[in-house]
Amino acid sequence: MLSYQHAYHAGNFADVHKHLTLYAVIDYLLRKKTAITYIDTHAGRGLYPLDAQETQRLQEYREGVWPLWQQRERLTETLLTSWLSAIAGAQSDNHELTHYPGSPWWLSHSLREQDRLRLYELHPGEHQHLNAQALPMQAERVYSDGLAGLTAMLPVATPRLCVLIDPSFERKAEYQEVADAVTYTLEKARHGVSVDLVSAAARWPSSRFVGCVKSERHT
Ligand SMILES: C[S@@+](CC[C@H](N)C(=O)[O-])C[C@H]1O[C@@H](n2cnc3c(N)ncnc32)[C@H](O)[C@@H]1O
Repeated sequence: MLSYQHAYHAGNFADVHKHLTLYAVIDYLLRKKTAITYIDTHAGRGLYPLDAQETQRLQEYREGVWPLWQQRERLTETLLTSWLSAIAGAQSDNHELTHYPGSPWWLSHSLREQDRLRLYELHPGEHQHLNAQALPMQAERVYSDGLAGLTAMLPVATPRLCVLIDPSFERKAEYQEVADAVTYTLEKARHGVSVDLVSAAARWPSSRFVGCVKSERHT
């Protein structure tokens, strides 16, 4: 039974790091015209109203996206300023920060006609929220296990693949399952980019994760 709900943490420091990285990766991939399949194995709700009861409980966004948004007129770093402009595009009034976009939004907003997007979410309530989002036609939402879905999709039909693996780590075994899925993805999709967020949970140091993937690749 899954209990984690990302709305409690939306827009926090870790989200800023994750979504900035994702934004930079997508920006880089879009330099070529060839089609990309994006797979988000743990999608969450897609868009988070900051005034939601869950988000207001911890208000983690106040130490994440909020200070950056407040300073956006003064910032000069291109990645940050263009990322914040993209966030402005997710607001109903682009002068006021009322919503924080999750990974399905980041992956959707730059989809081209030739690209594909598959979003997996296993929590029934979270999947319902995800289903309610206005996303492009190519954004396919699937209510099932993301790592199993990822491995079943490989190899994909497009020349390029970008995978986001962002679990909630409610089970200890998930660390090993992610390492196995990454190893399999690297074998099946040599041109893939995988953004794996294992160290974010800090219980499995990233060096151990990388070591695990490497040793599995070489045995
Ligand atoms: C950290 S949150 C995702 C946040 C999202 N990637 C973002 O950046 O906005 C993890 C999500 O994975 C979902 N989840 C947990 N186990 C899953 C599984 N086996 N397959 C798919 N989704 C799962 C949880 O319900 C939760 O919504």
